[in-house]
Amino acid sequence: MSDQIILRLDGQDYPLPLEQGAENERAIDISSLRADTGLITLDSGYANTGSCRSAITFVDGEQGILRYRGIPIEQFTQHPNFIEVAWLLIFGSLPNRQEYDGFAGDLTAHANLDEGMKLHFEGFPRNAPPMAILSAMINALSCFYPELLELDDTSRFRLAAARLISKIRTIAAYAYRHSQGDAYNYPNPRLAYVSNLLHMMFSHPYQERECDPLVREALNLLFILHADHEQNCSTSTVRIVGSSKANLFASCAAGVCALWGPLHGGANIEVLRMLERIHNGHMTPEDYVQQAKDKTNDARLMGFGHRVYKNRDPRAEILGRQAEKLLAYMGQDDPLLNIARKLEEIALEDPYFKQRNLYPNVDFYSGIIMRAVGIPTNMFTVMFAIGRLPGWIAHWWEQNQRGQNRIARPRQIYDGNTITDYVPMDERG
Ligand code: SDX
Repeated sequence: MSDQIILRLDGQDYPLPLEQGAENERAIDISSLRADTGLITLDSGYANTGSCRSAITFVDGEQGILRYRGIPIEQFTQHPNFIEVAWLLIFGSLPNRQEYDGFAGDLTAHANLDEGMKLHFEGFPRNAPPMAILSAMINALSCFYPELLELDDTSRFRLAAARLISKIRTIAAYAYRHSQGDAYNYPNPRLAYVSNLLHMMFSHPYQERECDPLVREALNLLFILHADHEQNCSTSTVRIVGSSKANLFASCAAGVCALWGPLHGGANIEVLRMLERIHNGHMTPEDYVQQAKDKTNDARLMGFGHRVYKNRDPRAEILGRQAEKLLAYMGQDDPLLNIARKLEEIALEDPYFKQRNLYPNVDFYSGIIMRAVGIPTNMFTVMFAIGRLPGWIAHWWEQNQRGQNRIARPRQIYDGNTITDYVPMDERG
């Protein structure tokens, strides 16, 4: 197989090396293109552009494959443990008992927020968007842990990672409690990761929120399935911000902002709103699918389609089954799940969706699970961020450790004014 391609320009040949990945995917290395030819590439949305080499996650969109450090995502469904997957993504292998207990211990030890941070919540309006609070408060961690801004060794990095993964729960819970006008619940050191999150969100002085084992399993699985997805919009944002040597907290706060968008992590909220509009009789599933195909409006079938998956998103398959299992266990018959199944059935038979390889993605069923657990719709994307945080941290650290820290600075094709002169105010039209 050739190890280079030849670019022919104006009768001259320019060899460009071919790179090959562990799964035989191939790329043209264009790092010398501009120097050799004066040309740059142009690729809207970077759909054909690799930004880096990475060993964290492998996605094969044609085959519907997703693996974390080589382990197929399906193998985490039996005994889902979000904390061991976080370790796997960040440090490269499954933790042994000592590593796991040490990391879990760090998460327990660092769940509290500095009392000074709690004052920040009081300044937000009750109806502030939770993702705005989350991004602001993750960035604010930079102020309270200045010793973790320069992460030049693994032990300090590990402490920063533990603090972030633990405190994102507390920040999320306090944002929710503030929106409800409820007192904050301190983290309970006797509770595991997911149980503690639900305790901090939903316990009351007179009634502690118990976390049912199947609910804990469902949320561990949900966080695992959201934990990483190679160079998606928010992870690429974290890498780009980190490439300027910005600290881990600032980089992850930027990732939260990117995830907020309705085309990315915000889609899980839009899916619920879409299902509720149909449930409330505003339109039938058939009408909604027709509207999503109609180019005269910007409606889309939310939770459908994907830049990389041109086959089924394995996460949607698993979450759809988990939603059925959880609702049956809880004795809930959620009409929104039935509507989601009907939308999927209609779309998968529709030539518009088939021709464009549009399938349910990770956001299509996740909201059904969160709703069954009692998580309010406006907190869905915050839950996505809790799940995605280990992936952001892993990519930031991989980029840092591999010395891939050439600052990210894409080029452009300029199509504005050619040279023109300044016009004094009294001579302007
Ligand atoms: C996530 O990148 C990741 O890995 C993301 C993610 C992760 O884990 O980080 O997987 C998480 O963000 C999942 C995606 C969540 N977003 C949504 O569910 C929003 C709805 N989906 C779309 O907006 C869209 O499918 C995207 C944003 C997901 C992908 O957009 P692309 O790759 O830019 O595709 P496109 O917009 O160019 O669409 C190609 C065609 C277009 O039609 P034509 O111009 O060919 O006629 O497909 C159509 C689109 O109009 N299309 C849809 C559609 N998605 C694509 N039409 C109707 N409904 C949809 N959902």
